Amino acid sequence: MENRTIKAALLGIGTVGGGVYKLVKSLENEMVEKAGAALSICKILVRDVKKDRPGIPRELLTDNWKEIIEDPEIQLVVELMGGIEPARTYIIEALNAGKQVVTANKDLLAERGRELMEAADANSCDLQFEAAVAGAIPIIRPLKQSLAGNHLTEVMGIVNGTTNYILSKMSDEGMDYEEALAKATELGYAEADPTADVEGYDAGRKIAIMACLAFNSRVTFSQVYTEGITKISSKDIRYAHEFGYEIKLLGVARNDGDGIEVKVHPMLIPAEHPLATVKDSFNAVFVHGDAVDDAMFMGRGAGEMPTASAVMGDIIDEIRNLIHGCSGRVGCSCYKQLTVKPIEESVSRFFLRIRAANRPGVLAGIASVLGNNGVGIAQVVQKSKSRQAETAELVIITDQVKESGFQDAMTVLKSLSTVREIASCIRVY
Ligand code: NAP
Ligand code: HSE
Repeated sequence: MENRTIKAALLGIGTVGGGVYKLVKSLENEMVEKAGAALSICKILVRDVKKDRPGIPRELLTDNWKEIIEDPEIQLVVELMGGIEPARTYIIEALNAGKQVVTANKDLLAERGRELMEAADANSCDLQFEAAVAGAIPIIRPLKQSLAGNHLTEVMGIVNGTTNYILSKMSDEGMDYEEALAKATELGYAEADPTADVEGYDAGRKIAIMACLAFNSRVTFSQVYTEGITKISSKDIRYAHEFGYEIKLLGVARNDGDGIEVKVHPMLIPAEHPLATVKDSFNAVFVHGDAVDDAMFMGRGAGEMPTASAVMGDIIDEIRNLIHGCSGRVGCSCYKQLTVKPIEESVSRFFLRIRAANRPGVLAGIASVLGNNGVGIAQVVQKSKSRQAETAELVIITDQVKESGFQDAMTVLKSLSTVREIASCIRVY
């Protein structure tokens, strides 16, 4: 075997980059046998070269991109900075210079994926991004390659570690939201700005990326309906338990033949459903296709080493491709142009928590508004502190209803003098 060393540069050495560097070191002695060549990280781009970084040789650090892009010996660029710019420019310049690229940057892929893939294809280079979706879970390669023999119709799952950690801690340990978010941040799960996690944007970016690969049609983040977990209270979780459900943040993408439905929102899932048992920073993705039937993938969805595991898999694949001269073999797979349907067309059941006047006839009035808008009631429970209390809480689970009909019913309910507050409105599996 030819005695070769592949030279690579890391762009960023934060949570994920730090994990990747540790894996590179731990695999150093077996990389030639494993991948066919040794790997040398010869430059690391950072913002602040003076920052103390234990275990990282200072001489590798640079804040000058030109030292990387203009070095012809660097064949592989691993982007772990995050954000749109300058990551987008650096990746495109690297591909145009004939370098292979690995990235974990879902924000960028979900918004500018088309131009990145076009640059990769134009230069016969690889752009690999296994770590961009669901951390350690192998899902990009399965969707793009292993399941390519299918017409996939559904991809659904828990794809954000931070929110799954928060919801699990609130549900199992009664931890409050702020404390759980602080712990998720401390553990390195949360994004630099955790708004992206808790408002469902991060999951929205991941479901957009998976929808592209599953349905062979470009879906961007702006086309994904997103709703986060910031309005989920411990009371909702308690009532969900009473009805036999857990609350999870789900990403859903479906292709029913007349367009793609792609959305992220909290959902009540039956406690015995496999997704309800996915806890902590674990993620899980369900896939349905005409040949494979159902398949489920599960693993750690965030954090230093789980994410580094996925990046390292791509790096090793790149070393193999470079050694065998077969880079650029698997390019953009978005060869269809399917319509993305608006949320108003989707159909769901709903969990409703309503604070209403505590007197006879109020429930009948609410039921009549729901019924007049085509919303059937499957279950209802009335909670009042005492018979004398001025208000009571109604918890309703509806039958399946089209979103547009449900929203019409909500508009009428809000206008009723007997309805004091629609406190929660969460979709049900
Ligand atoms: P992070 O801890 O904030 O680290 C970012 C690194 O990039 C830092 O070393 C930073 O340099 C460097 N950097 C940022 N902007 C730069 C710029 N303009 N020029 C030069 N260097 C720059 O981020 P992370 O959590 O490792 O995430 C990295 C990427 O992986 C993101 O795309 C993220 O969405 C994705 N991801 C993260 C996870 C996770 O669990 N954390 C999981 C999957 C995917 P300084 O150190 O000098 O500030
Ligand atoms: N912030 C992300 C999460 C990191 O919590 O899932 C992994 O993409």
